[in-house]
Amino acid sequence: MKGRKINDSVSWMGAVDWNRRLFDSLVPLPDGTSYNAYLVRGTEKTALIDAVDPAKSDVLLSQLEGIDRIDYIVAQHAEQDHSGCIPLLLDKYPAARVVSTPKAQGMLLDLLGIPAERVVSVEDGKTLPLGDKTLEFLHTPWVHWPETMCTYLREDKILFSCDFFGSHLATTDLYVTNQVVVYEAAKRYYAEIMMPFRSIILKNLAKVEAHDIQMIAPSHGPVYDQPSFILDAYRDWVSDAVKNEVVLPYISMHGSTQKMVDHLVSSLAERGVKVHLFDLTVTDIGKLAIALVDAATMVVGTPTVHIGPHPSVYYASHLANALRPKLRYASIIGSYGWSSKAIEQIAGLIPNLKVEILAPVMCRGRPQAETFAALDQLAASIADRHTKL
Ligand code: FEO
Repeated sequence: MKGRKINDSVSWMGAVDWNRRLFDSLVPLPDGTSYNAYLVRGTEKTALIDAVDPAKSDVLLSQLEGIDRIDYIVAQHAEQDHSGCIPLLLDKYPAARVVSTPKAQGMLLDLLGIPAERVVSVEDGKTLPLGDKTLEFLHTPWVHWPETMCTYLREDKILFSCDFFGSHLATTDLYVTNQVVVYEAAKRYYAEIMMPFRSIILKNLAKVEAHDIQMIAPSHGPVYDQPSFILDAYRDWVSDAVKNEVVLPYISMHGSTQKMVDHLVSSLAERGVKVHLFDLTVTDIGKLAIALVDAATMVVGTPTVHIGPHPSVYYASHLANALRPKLRYASIIGSYGWSSKAIEQIAGLIPNLKVEILAPVMCRGRPQAETFAALDQLAASIADRHTKL
């Protein structure tokens, strides 16, 4: 795709990666992604904000044909999907300097082998004049690495936000045209990338919102020409508020855990509690992450393999712990044949979750009347706590 004009001074450049299905060899991308760069031309200097993934260098280089001079390459984030083409760009533009945070400077040298003399670091709040345009750099750590920053184009009131507010979405739309679709993709992005740093994201949100923002141009997904849409969504996601929802990832091998899960789901629904159910043999782990953004409670369902939880449940528990959602309550249900340490092992996997553990329910063999009664009790405990949220 060719570059796209945002206004007389700013153009979107970048690559839409329609077929990528996995990021960092970890994160599912059901809708592909894009790597956005932005060219800002002042009367005296020209800056390129971010670059693209090295796999798409040919796209960016073709968009830059006819651009004879770039003075600054602003590296807002050292991760290679935005920085990986910078060595190529430095070859193409020998007078160009890379502009980054001091922390990113070392990372760019380590990751990409960029010569130190080509990198200029900028402190928080510093400005870079381009003639009639001014770039202001806002250090915003942990969106998504510790070295990240955003860039505010003062005269046009555009915030270039890199991963912050991004969405993994392949589209020909320059701007958001379907808020429902972008909301889901941006929430998935927040859940997988930003959620572990929620308290810092909150501070970064306040920091960027102190500026008059008329447009947010992220480095993944479409541009927000109505920024209140994504700012409101982030305010909701990073808030302390949780919803009357249960996330229930589970596995069943021979049907006992399945019966318990089915009973608990029904019992919770009867009590007015919404349940997000994930059979881990088929689930998109990104959907699980999205559900963890708002839920008050997580219940993990597992059979016993040898004496521990099923390995897929082990992985999901580890993932939930790593994502640090704002859960308030957790519990474990499941089954075993002769003995089980699944409860102790799962509880040991989630030390980051500041949750009250509600009485687990484990049954030997098939669930029977007392098992279902215990599950009803668990559902009642959850519903009772949720009414007090
Ligand atoms: Fe889009 Fe953290 O890189």
